[in-house]
Amino acid sequence: MLITYRNPPNFDSIARNYKLLGRLFFRQHLIQSQTDLLPFVFNPKTVLIVGGGNGEIIPLLFNSFPNTNIEFVEVSKSMIEIAKDEVARLPTAQISQTKIIEGNINVLEFSKKFDLIIFPYLLDVLSTEEIKLILAKSKTWLTTQGAILHIDFHLNEMNRFKKGFFKVVTFLLYLFFYLTSQVKMQALPNFHELYLAAGYTPIQEKRRFSGWLRSCIYKPEIS
Ligand SMILES: C[S@@+](CC[C@H](N)C(=O)[O-])C[C@H]1O[C@@H](n2cnc3c(N)ncnc32)[C@H](O)[C@@H]1O
Repeated sequence: MLITYRNPPNFDSIARNYKLLGRLFFRQHLIQSQTDLLPFVFNPKTVLIVGGGNGEIIPLLFNSFPNTNIEFVEVSKSMIEIAKDEVARLPTAQISQTKIIEGNINVLEFSKKFDLIIFPYLLDVLSTEEIKLILAKSKTWLTTQGAILHIDFHLNEMNRFKKGFFKVVTFLLYLFFYLTSQVKMQALPNFHELYLAAGYTPIQEKRRFSGWLRSCIYKPEIS
């Protein structure tokens, strides 16, 4: 199958203010949604974080799993610079346990397998075609016990009023990211359906911010 990739979005212009903007709008919810389910993850030896942004998630991950080895993939140069500063503040051992890779996940391959792959608000900026491909490739990147920690926006299982409200807010968020970062999406895909169609089973779920922010652990079905 031939896939033509669009240019990835470019978060460089908002990288320095990304944390502040996130805190203003979501308070602690955006970052807490990324750690909510870590107690349900079995001590991963290797973790792949994709689209990790400014790297705020890295020390939080080490808080839960001090001995893990992290590969952190990010396409924005400015985000990478901030993430490197974040890593430089870690204890020496954990600095050497962290590998930062500047690149586009659509075209990367990995020589090792991971016990945990984290997509922290990444899939909402990818096309449905790209998501399907990444979910298929992720199966080959995971160890046999491995799982994906998916964290993203979600508009299902809400009452009509809430759903309508958050659809508008999601549209405005996409408009903001279109203007600042060339994100081309206009509506949120149904990620859960895409995981099910790709052969994953949900293991544990948590929602916050009126259910709009959803974290879910998915494991590939054994074939
Ligand atoms: C919405 S931001 C989320 C940042 C961070 N994970 C957070 O939750 O604050 C999406 C991130 O994914 C990165 N990204 C987008 N497309 C990518 C791709 N194809 N490969 C790697 N990173 C990508 C962007 O540069 C951006 O930092």
